Order: sequence, then C-alpha cells, then structure tokens
Amino acid sequence: MTNPRKSRDPRTLRPATQLVHGGSLRSAFEETSEALFLTQGYLYDTSEIAEARFKGEDTGFVYSRFSNPTVAMFERRMALLEGAEAARATASGMAAVTAALMGQLKAGDHVVAARALFGSCLYVVEDLLPRFGVASTLVEGRDLDAWRLALRPNTKTAFLESPTNPTLEIVDIAGVAEIMHANGATVVVDNVFATPLLQHPLKLGADCVVYSATKHIDGQGRVLGGVILGSEKFIADHIHNFLRQTGPCLSPFNAWTLLKSLETLPVRVAAQARSTERIADFLSGHPAVLRTLYPGRADHPQADLARRQMSGGGTLLAFEVGGGKAAAFRMANALSIIGISNNLGDAKSLITHPETTTHQRPKPEQRAALGIGPGLLRLSVGLEDAEDLIEDLGQALEKAASPRRHAAE
Ligand SMILES: Cc1ncc(COP(=O)(O)O)c(C=O)c1O
Repeated sequence: MTNPRKSRDPRTLRPATQLVHGGSLRSAFEETSEALFLTQGYLYDTSEIAEARFKGEDTGFVYSRFSNPTVAMFERRMALLEGAEAARATASGMAAVTAALMGQLKAGDHVVAARALFGSCLYVVEDLLPRFGVASTLVEGRDLDAWRLALRPNTKTAFLESPTNPTLEIVDIAGVAEIMHANGATVVVDNVFATPLLQHPLKLGADCVVYSATKHIDGQGRVLGGVILGSEKFIADHIHNFLRQTGPCLSPFNAWTLLKSLETLPVRVAAQARSTERIADFLSGHPAVLRTLYPGRADHPQADLARRQMSGGGTLLAFEVGGGKAAAFRMANALSIIGISNNLGDAKSLITHPETTTHQRPKPEQRAALGIGPGLLRLSVGLEDAEDLIEDLGQALEKAASPRRHAAE
C-alpha cells in the first residue's frame, strides 16, 4: 500500500515543512538526516550504463563537478522554497551572480544594472563584462524611467538587488520586469537582503534569482555557497552548461551544511526580523542617530513599495550617526556584543562601516549619490536577545556622542 504521506506533492506544502522534508534523496540505509555524499565520482555497473549516462539516457550521477546527491538535495529544497522549476548550486554567491550574467551574455550584448550593487557585483558589471565585449549601463534603480531610458536594441538582461546594500533602497521588481520583458530582455535579482522567505522575485516577474547562500541560508557563519534559480528553460539554456564546463561547483560538504541550515531558516529569519524591528524603533528614537533606514518601518522612503513586494522588513538596517566617520568608528569600537564584520545574515549580530569597507570601490561622488556617508553604519541583526543588543547599541551610542567624557573614565 502506498503511504499517502510519502506521495504528497512537496510543492503543496508550506515553506517551513518544505524546508525540513523537501528535496531529500534517501539512500538504501533509510537515514533520517540527509546523508553527506563526499565523493568525486560514481561507479557504473557496466560500460553500457556508463555510455547511457553520458548520453543523458540514464539519469544517474556522473561526476561531482556537475551533479552530486547532497548538492542535488540542496538544489531541490531551494527550488521548492523559491517556487522555481530548477536550481543550480555554486561555490559562492559571486559564482552565482557571475554565472547568471555570463551564462546569458555574449560579445555585443548590453546589460543594465542598478548602481546600488554589492561591490563585487559592480566589478562584474563594470569591469569584467566589458572586457568580454558586453557593454553595461548603471542606473538609479528606484527610478523606472531610468531603466526605460537605458534600454538599447541589444539589451539582454537587467540586474538588481532589493533591498540594496547598504542603504536598504527598494527597487520595483515587477516594474523593471515589465520594462525589460517588453524589450525582450531578462531580469536577474540578487535576493540576498530580502531572503527567500520575505520576497519572491520570480512571482514578481523576474526570470532568475541568485543568492549568496553564505548569508542567511547558512546563517551561522560557516560555509560559502550560492544558488541560481529559474525556469527549467532558463537554467537549461543559460546556466547548466556554463556551470558544468567551467566548474564553480558547490562542495558536497558545504551543500550538506546549507541543506541542514535550511531546516531552521524560517525560525531564524523570523526571530532576527522581530529583533531588527525593535532595534530600528530604538535607533530612530535615539538623539545621536540622524536617520534610520529599515524597510519594515512606515518612515522608510519607499514604505509602500516595500510592503507591496516584501512580507517583512528583513534582518538588516542602516543608520547614520552625527559626527561622521570618527563618531561611527567610536560607536562600532565601543560595542561589546555586536562584532565588526562585513558579513551579514549571521546568528551573531554584525556591524560594518560601508564607506571604508564594502563600498570603498565607488568614487566619493558615487557614494554620496547612494547615500553612503561617513556616519553610516549597517547592522545585521543576529539571534541574540534583542534587549541585550539594544543595551549594547545604547551604551556605544552614548560613547560615540560624548567621546571626551568617556575617554576620561
Ligand atoms: C548582496 C550580495 N550579493 C552577493 C554577495 C556575494 O556572496 P559571496 O560572498 O557568497 O560570494 C554578497 C556578499 O558577499 C552580498 O551581500
């Protein structure tokens, strides 16, 4: 008799259930926890089977550069969560971004990207692609007319992140998708800041979603990884062969770590987002803070759009202290629980000064246009008790605001 539990279509389950059970490939040992298949290759019973497998007539594993059972479980679970037909894992988030763009483009093509991008993504768009004959235009991502005006007959794809790093600007994903699709171009969204739980770019019209799985998906600061998601056709046409032949593959060990992390992703993101809301309220009422940027707050400059395309404000916020770089450094240096790090999405709360770290690359005038001033700090909220984090921020803000008094203590 068939067990009805086993025959239920995992796509009909809710995210928390998909993330515990979805995509599993159980071995003959019937293990409860997903197995780590730390193997490079696979044996074929006969030469005929090897031949069939290489022809694609037999669907077994061939070589771990392009297929491995543990990596496949991670890809299948991610595809379920994202509501995507297909997913491919990569060694890092940057491998995912690079493959998602280069896999689609050839010399003579044009790409449009939002100017508020993570530094390494900017390098790919501004430096790397033009070296291979792909022209690029950077636009003010919040302005749909800017996307429209940037279009050229040879525009093949658009690339954006939303919310953006570090100022939490929101790009209208559905609006950009409509403009690009009307001109035969695709849209790739880096969904790292929103997390796969709080924003669904494919449902908003994007053709491809990329993640640095290094961030919330691991969520415990251990391994690097990335993932590219889209329709079967998008992955088959643009991604599968590019990854298979060039080799930026995810190690089975990292895939296993990420697969197990997905089980707790909803619990972690919900708790971190709840704390972020409370911290945003605290910071926005603090006299030493000039402005607080959090997509979950009604005073966010694009609060309506954030509400329309996200189901929560996320686990990151940015805030600006009076007194510029010196005050921002004093503040970060005075923290005792929150660590100084450019990473994000971790169980440990982390703070960074974008102007001198992640966003050193843009020229000063570009930074100013992006709202990245010397007093700006970005906070990734972790799983600590929110009250402890608020106390830590409070004492550090006090020290940053009145340095002389505290230096004398
Ligand atoms: C928005 C965003 N995209 C992409 C990346 C790249 O990810 P990874 O470090 O896993 O290569 C990062 C962070 O590093 C990021 O913050």
